[in-house]
Amino acid sequence: MNNIKDLKNLNQKIVLLRLDLNVPLKQGIIADETRIDKILPIIKFLLKEKSKILIVSHVGRPKGNVNKDLSMKPICENLEKKIKRKIQLVSDDIFKLKRKDFFKDPDNQIVFLENIRFYKEEEDNDLNFSKHLASFADLFVNDAFSCSHRAHASVCKVAEFLPSYAGLQLETEINALKKVTTEIKKPITCIIGGSKISTKIGIIKNLIPKFNNIIIVGGMANNILNFNGNNIGKSIKEDNCEKMINEIFDTSKKYSCVITYPEDVLVGKHMEDKSRTKELNEITDDDVILDIGPKTTNKIKSIIENSKTVLWNGPAGYFENPNFANGSYEIAKTIVKKKKFKSIYSVVGGGDTIAVLNQIDVAKDFNFVSTAGGAFLEYLEGKELPGIKALK
Ligand code: 3PG
Repeated sequence: MNNIKDLKNLNQKIVLLRLDLNVPLKQGIIADETRIDKILPIIKFLLKEKSKILIVSHVGRPKGNVNKDLSMKPICENLEKKIKRKIQLVSDDIFKLKRKDFFKDPDNQIVFLENIRFYKEEEDNDLNFSKHLASFADLFVNDAFSCSHRAHASVCKVAEFLPSYAGLQLETEINALKKVTTEIKKPITCIIGGSKISTKIGIIKNLIPKFNNIIIVGGMANNILNFNGNNIGKSIKEDNCEKMINEIFDTSKKYSCVITYPEDVLVGKHMEDKSRTKELNEITDDDVILDIGPKTTNKIKSIIENSKTVLWNGPAGYFENPNFANGSYEIAKTIVKKKKFKSIYSVVGGGDTIAVLNQIDVAKDFNFVSTAGGAFLEYLEGKELPGIKALK
């Protein structure tokens, strides 16, 4: 894999720069800026080298449709402020654009394309779309480790049509995760939460042989609770997961990996509600499970106490509402306390998980913070990520 920092003479070259600026957005307000902060080194590097930077990113899951709420505009403006430079946001239809349409103004060194997932061809890894994107630039840089598990056009296929390089943040993330996987100390605990159930549930089975404990919280845990015959009310869940959950339990027995999931929960009637603690058999049809309960929190704390390594991806609850943030905060505080005595190695990954840590200002107290969520888990699983393979 070639790294952009080793390339000479980038002067005036147009660099198609894939970033993952998929930050939490609420009514145009960025709830956590970590992913923007992490890509400042590559932007500064390319500016110094006098390249022309054409930024491509997605935010959210617009599924091939234009969605004003998922515009890159607030992210583009935030980046402008951080680097104190004007950035042009191009919202025109990509198919109508040509290379000569960019960088007409010689003082303009950075152009931002609108959310690339407004085009269905992106997620289809479409060949002609990728070729067209590539025609805008001289070379391609992937500095989006956190979406390199997606075989999408601007992450993957585009690399077939341009000389392609790894970005600075991507290299940092890979080196750190390589170190984690080779120097890991047992007992190892992996905490998996969040709401992207479909991305993660299939990964759990493959992680089992590598860990002593897997703790399943967040939206994903609802599938297990439901599988065990509990009513989960109106909570999110993935359909047709029964076979996968059976395999998770069978594999865990084979490898003596302990699977932990909620024993009690916090529920509300809607996302902005107050919280009520409930035993699993008390959940009613109109309840939404939004956090782990106190018994579960204590159990998880004691597992962390007995671990030497902890890897964590995905919040334990709907932390955006402070009434449901406690489970995630308690997990974070327990890890941080143990790390102070140097008795645990802690790695955390994913946009939402970082947002939780930033809310209580503890991200700096972890050994390594990866911007990646799904990509982080797939890397741990031992998979070669399509976006990384494409760079080779
Ligand atoms: C992430 O946040 O993990 C990446 O941006 C990928 O997003 P996705 O799960 O919507 O593909």
